[in-house]
Amino acid sequence: TPPEQIRNFCIIAHIDHGKSTLADRMLSITGIVSDREMRAQYLDRMDIERERGITIKSQAVRMPWSDGAGQTYALNMIDTPGHVDFTYEVSRSLAACEGAVLLVDAAQGIEAQTLANLYLALENDLTIIPVLNKIDLPAADPDKYAAEIANLIGGKPEDVLRVSGKTGMGVEELLDRIVERIPAPQGDADAPARAMIFDSVYDSYRGVVTYVRMIDGRLEPRERIQMMSTRATHDALEIGVSSPEPTPTKGLSVGEVGYLITGVKDVRLSKVGDTVTNQRRPATKALAGYVDPKPMVFSGVYPIDGSDYPELREALDKLKLSDASLQYEPETSVALGFGFRCGFLGLLHLEIVTERLSREFGLDLITTAPSVTYEVTTDNNQHVTVTNPSEYPDGRVATVSEPIVKVGILLPKDYVGTVMELCQSRRGTLLGMEYLSEDRVELRYTMPLGEIVFDFFDHLKSRTQGYASLDYEPAGQQEADLVKVDILLQGEKVDAFSSIVHRDKAYAYGTLMTERLRKLIPRQQFEVPIQAAIGARIIARETIRAIRKDVLAKCYGGDISRKRKLLEKQKEGKKRMKMVGRVEVPQEAFIAALSGD
Ligand code: GTP
Repeated sequence: TPPEQIRNFCIIAHIDHGKSTLADRMLSITGIVSDREMRAQYLDRMDIERERGITIKSQAVRMPWSDGAGQTYALNMIDTPGHVDFTYEVSRSLAACEGAVLLVDAAQGIEAQTLANLYLALENDLTIIPVLNKIDLPAADPDKYAAEIANLIGGKPEDVLRVSGKTGMGVEELLDRIVERIPAPQGDADAPARAMIFDSVYDSYRGVVTYVRMIDGRLEPRERIQMMSTRATHDALEIGVSSPEPTPTKGLSVGEVGYLITGVKDVRLSKVGDTVTNQRRPATKALAGYVDPKPMVFSGVYPIDGSDYPELREALDKLKLSDASLQYEPETSVALGFGFRCGFLGLLHLEIVTERLSREFGLDLITTAPSVTYEVTTDNNQHVTVTNPSEYPDGRVATVSEPIVKVGILLPKDYVGTVMELCQSRRGTLLGMEYLSEDRVELRYTMPLGEIVFDFFDHLKSRTQGYASLDYEPAGQQEADLVKVDILLQGEKVDAFSSIVHRDKAYAYGTLMTERLRKLIPRQQFEVPIQAAIGARIIARETIRAIRKDVLAKCYGGDISRKRKLLEKQKEGKKRMKMVGRVEVPQEAFIAALSGD
C-alpha cells in the first residue's frame, strides 16, 4: 500500500473507558472479523488480560476502510497498554503512529492516565482525535465532558465525536475522521531500511513475534536483518500483517505496520524501541534513542514449599522469554529460605508476574514487601545500590537517596482535603492544583516512590470512594533521612522484615510489626522477646511468654506405640517450622505477617 493510503493510529484511554470494546467494534465494522468469529476483546489475547479486562501487551491490526469517494485506505490500529508501569511501551507505540484517538468515558471524564498518555502523544506530535465513548449510558454527560476536553486540548466542544463502542453508534464517523484528519506517513522509500520495534511478544509455537513500523526503505522475507542496538543479525523467516490473524506478505514498505518472525526464542534479542535494518545495506543512524526500561520496584519471591525452588527458577526463566523487563537473581532469607529478588517496572507489573507464576506454573508463592532502589554513600565514600533492605550498610551510611516520582491525581473537588492530607502524610510536596472543570481537580505532587509502593493506591481509592485516579513518572533521586528498621526474635534478625523507612516513621513500623508477630508466633518453651531496632537501638518490644509443651505428659504410663506416633506427629509439624536462632516459627506466621493479615 502506498503511504498516501495508510493511516496509523492508536487509542489512548484510561483503564475501563472502553478501548478494547471500541477496537472490537472497529474490527467488525471494517469486516475483518465476522460476528461469528467475534469474541469479546479479540485483541487481548492473554487469558489474564481478558479476565482482568486490562491490556498488557500492545498489538497492531490492519483494517481496510473506504472514504465517501470510494478510495480504500489501510488503517493500522496500534493497541497501547494504558498503565503507568508500561509507559515506555506506550511511548514506543505512540512513536509508531501519526495520530491518536483520545477516548474518554462520557460518564467519567478525563482520568489521570488519559492525561499522562495525552501528554506523551502531544510530545510525539500526534494529531489528536477527541472522542467521548459510552454515550449510550444513562449516566453519560457528553456536554459536560466535551467542554472539559475542549478546555484541555483546545478546539470546540462540538468537534468532540460521540460514540458507543457497545452499540456501534458513531464508530463509522470515527473511522471517516481518522482517514480525514490523521496525516499519511512519510518516509524515504529508497533509503536503507529502518523499522521501529514497538512490541515484541513470545509465542510458544513461533518464537518471538516482533511488531514493527517501517519508517524508511523496505524489508522482505528471507533477507538477513540486523538489530541496530546490538548489531545482531537474524533471518527474516516471515514478514506479514495482522488483520487480525497473522497473514504473510511479500514485505513491508514505508509507513506500513506489520510483524517479523526470525525464529529467535528470547524477546531480549528483539527489544522494544530498537531499530531493524537490512544487513546487506544497513542504515547508518538508528531511530530515536532506545532505552532499557529500568525496574523501579523490587520484591523477594519465595516458594511456600521450599522444594518448589527449581520450578520457580524454571518458571522465571520462561516468563523472561516473553517479558524482557522482568529481572531476577537468587536470594536467600532466614525466614523464607531460597527464593529470588525480582525487579519490576511497577506494582501492577509485580502483581501480573506473581499472578502468572501462580496461574500458569501452579506455584504457591510469598512475596516480601515491595522496596525501591536506594543509593547509599558510605562513610568511607563507597557507593552502594540497595534494592534489598537486609543489605543496607547499617552504621556506615553517610548519605542515602531514594527515588522520587511526579504524581498526578485527578479527583472530584470534594475529596481534595482528604487526598492532600494523605499526600502530606506520605511526604508529598504539592506542585500545583488545577480545575479541569467546575468540579474536577488535578493535583500534582512530588513524592518518594517508596511511599507509593506501600499501599498508597488503596488508601487513595478508599478515601475517594474510588473516584480518584493516579499516575506517576520518575523524577530522579533525592536525599532523605532514612533508616533501616530490623525486627529481631530473641536477638536474631529476621531478614524478610527489615525495612527502610523515613526516620519519623520508624517507630510506627517497629510497633506494627512487633505486635503483629506477637499475635502470630506460638508460645515456645522459653520467653521470646520480639524487638524492633535501628542499628543497636531498640525502638519497640513485645514478649511471647513461655509455655512447657510436653506431648508425652499426656500419655503417662500409656503404651509405647502411641508415644511413638505422637513423637512422629510432632516431628512432622516441625517440618513447616523455620528456625530463627532457637525460636521455632511456623512459616504461616511469616506469611501472615508479610501479607498484613
Ligand atoms: P483496558 O483494556 O483495561 O484499558 O480497558 P478498556 O478501556 O479496554 O475497557 P473495555 O473495553 O474492557 O471496557 C470496560 C467496560 O466498559 C466493560 O465492562 C465494557 O463492557 C464497558 N463498555 C465499553 N464500551 C462501552 C459503551 O460504549 N457503552 C457501555 N454502556 N459500556 C461500554
